[in-house]
Amino acid sequence: MTSSTLSDQDQLEALLAALAARSRTAIDASLPGATTLPTRLHEAMRYSALDGGKCIRPMLVYSAGKAVGAPDSRLDAPAVAVELIHAYSLVHDDLPAMDDDELRRGRPTCHKAFDEATAILVGDGLQALAFQQLAQDPNLDIDPAVKLRMVQILAQAAGSRGMVGGQAIDLESEGKQLNIAALEDMHIHKTGALIRASVTLGALCADGVDESRLAGLDHYAKCIGLAFQIHDDVLDVVSDTKTLGKTQGADQARNKSTYPALMGLDNARRRADELRNDALASIADLDERADPLRWLANYIVSRKR
Ligand code: IPE
Ligand code: IPE
Ligand code: MG
Ligand code: MG
Ligand code: MG
Repeated sequence: MTSSTLSDQDQLEALLAALAARSRTAIDASLPGATTLPTRLHEAMRYSALDGGKCIRPMLVYSAGKAVGAPDSRLDAPAVAVELIHAYSLVHDDLPAMDDDELRRGRPTCHKAFDEATAILVGDGLQALAFQQLAQDPNLDIDPAVKLRMVQILAQAAGSRGMVGGQAIDLESEGKQLNIAALEDMHIHKTGALIRASVTLGALCADGVDESRLAGLDHYAKCIGLAFQIHDDVLDVVSDTKTLGKTQGADQARNKSTYPALMGLDNARRRADELRNDALASIADLDERADPLRWLANYIVSRKR
């Protein structure tokens, strides 16, 4: 790698870190203050939606938007919306009735730091706030029909035919041996759906983006969405609790259906790499404005946490 390529990579990394920081500021502004009544609920919402997350979904919103020329000001609302849905999904995912985890982002999970009822309400509150943000942010100055389409896309991605449906399959599959097609279907829903929505929502913020461009980006997103969960499954096996900020080995302990469990670590890694390559191929015709998307595709399958 030449030094100029290295510095290009450094610049991209800095850009994406700045986008993650931008999304955190916007999320902070969207959340009621911790002294707003009911204070315990709002404190718990802030605890769960701020700090410690990688903000990959907001980074995808900004990066997809930039790739097709959307102004950053329009991208804050969808970036906040997808991260609030994601944060809610983690709070519920960690509940005793689901994965029963005690550690998240290096801290006690929401139901441990607060209590179970509060954690359920935190999820409910964050989900509603996500849609409120999309509907009300004046900086999202686009055609109302496009905004309506964005709301519909996020609702479908979050709901029973998206993330929530995938979570249902995940729980039904504990202790069972799924075949590859069923495992892929579960991952595409529980994790892929929101990642796909993140990319489409970002792209829809550009004026006049055409359907074939959206389809290419959607293929990119489908591939990295599946790769993201495969890599999450791999990290659960090979990483450690301190690095992950969540309990290593939790999948095996709960007899979860995962890629490494079904096809072994090497094959799981190979599959994630293939999907990354497929994702990159589907955006090969985009100019350098799509480099953040390229960087993210590589990051998703090489990240340490
Ligand atoms: C973890 O997602 C849950 C999955 C969908 C696998 P992230 O790895 O994006 O979690 P944070 O937001 O960075 O904590
Ligand atoms: C969670 O998948 C996917 C969600 C929709 C929250 P996991 O259960 O594997 O996520 P982690 O490993 O707890 O972060
Ligand atoms: Mg889970
Ligand atoms: Mg979990
Ligand atoms: Mg996991």
